[in-house]
Amino acid sequence: MNTVQGSDGFREAVLAGLSVRPRAIPCKYLYDAEGSALFDRITELDEYYPTRTEIALLAASGGAIAERVGPGARVVEFGCGSMRKTRLLLAALSGPSAYVAIDVAREPLLLGARRMAALFPDVAVVPLVADFTRPLALPPDAMGGDGPVLGFFPGSTIGNMRPDEARAFLRRAGRVLGPGGRMLVGVDLIKDPRLLDAAYDDAQGVTAAFIRNLLVRANRELGADFDPATFDHRAWWNAREGRVEIHLVAGRRQRVEIAGHRFAFRRGDVIHVEDCYKYSPEQFCWLARLGGFESEAVWIDPDCLFSLHLLVSTGC
Ligand code: SAH
Ligand code: AVI
Repeated sequence: MNTVQGSDGFREAVLAGLSVRPRAIPCKYLYDAEGSALFDRITELDEYYPTRTEIALLAASGGAIAERVGPGARVVEFGCGSMRKTRLLLAALSGPSAYVAIDVAREPLLLGARRMAALFPDVAVVPLVADFTRPLALPPDAMGGDGPVLGFFPGSTIGNMRPDEARAFLRRAGRVLGPGGRMLVGVDLIKDPRLLDAAYDDAQGVTAAFIRNLLVRANRELGADFDPATFDHRAWWNAREGRVEIHLVAGRRQRVEIAGHRFAFRRGDVIHVEDCYKYSPEQFCWLARLGGFESEAVWIDPDCLFSLHLLVSTGC
C-alpha cells in the first residue's frame, strides 16, 4: 500500500472520483503551485478573453464601484489567485481598510498576500487558506473595523460551480458578508461557441497542460503512475446546459495505480474535470436573487463578452 498522502482531501477525491461513473475529479484540485502558474499563463493567451476584458471593465467602473461602496471598505476575495484584479480594485476604492484573501492554493496565496501588504501598507491583509465550497468562517480579527463590506469574486470562477452550487455559495457568502454587504462578481457571458471553444482549447496547448496537471499532481502527491501524455484534453460548448465541459480522454487502454488502488481505462474513457457555466446578465441576476442578493449595477464590455455585477445582500 502506498502511504503517500494527498493533502486537503485530494487522495480521497481522486480515489472516489475514479471509482464512480461518470468519473470526475473536482476542479479545485487543478490549483497546486504548478496549476496556479499554468492558470496565470492562460490569462495571458490571445484566445482567453475573460481576464483582459474583466480588467478593462474594472478599470472603467472602478470609480462608480468606489462611490457606491464608500470609504474604508473591508474586502473579502474568494479564489484570489495572482490578485492582479484586486490591485486595481483596492486602488480604485476610497481608503480600503482590510483585505481578506481566500484561496486553496497555499503558496501562491501567501506570496500574493505579502506583495499586497507591501503595495497597500494601510490595508490589513489577511490570507486565508480555505475551500469556499465549504462552510466558511473568517478569523475573528480578520474583519476589524466597521467599514462597508465588499465581497469580490472575479474571473467567472462562479461559473465553475453548477447553478445550484453557485446559489448555495452565494448564500454562504452572504452570511459571511452580513446584511447589506456587497459582492462584486465577474460573470462570463454566453457568446459565439467558436470563441468559447478557442478560449478553452488554445493553440499553444497551455489549457491542455493546465488540465493534465491534475494527473501530474496525482503522480507527484499520491505516487500515481499516470502517463499524462496519453490523456487528451477535450473542451466543448454544451448549449443545452449553457456550459463549456472539460474532460480528459484516455487515448489508449491502460491501467493506473494510485496509492495502492488499480484503475482500468479503455480507449475513449473520460474523466470530467471542469464545467464553465456562462450566463446572460438576466440569468445571473436571477441566480443572484435565489442566492440572497439583489443586483445594484451591471457593467458589460462593448463586445458583450463579460459582465461585472455589483450585488447587495438582502439578508434573507
Ligand atoms: N481571481 C483570479 C483567479 C481565478 S482562478 C482571477 O480572476 O484571475 C480560480 C482561483 O480560485 C484560483 O486561485 C484557485 O486556487 C481558487 N480556487 C478554486 N477553487 C477554490 C475553492 N474551492 N476554494 C478556494 N479557492 C479556490
Ligand atoms: C478559474 N476559472 C474561472 C477558469 C474558467 O475560465 O472557467 C478556469 C479555466 N479552465 C480552463 N481555462 C480556464
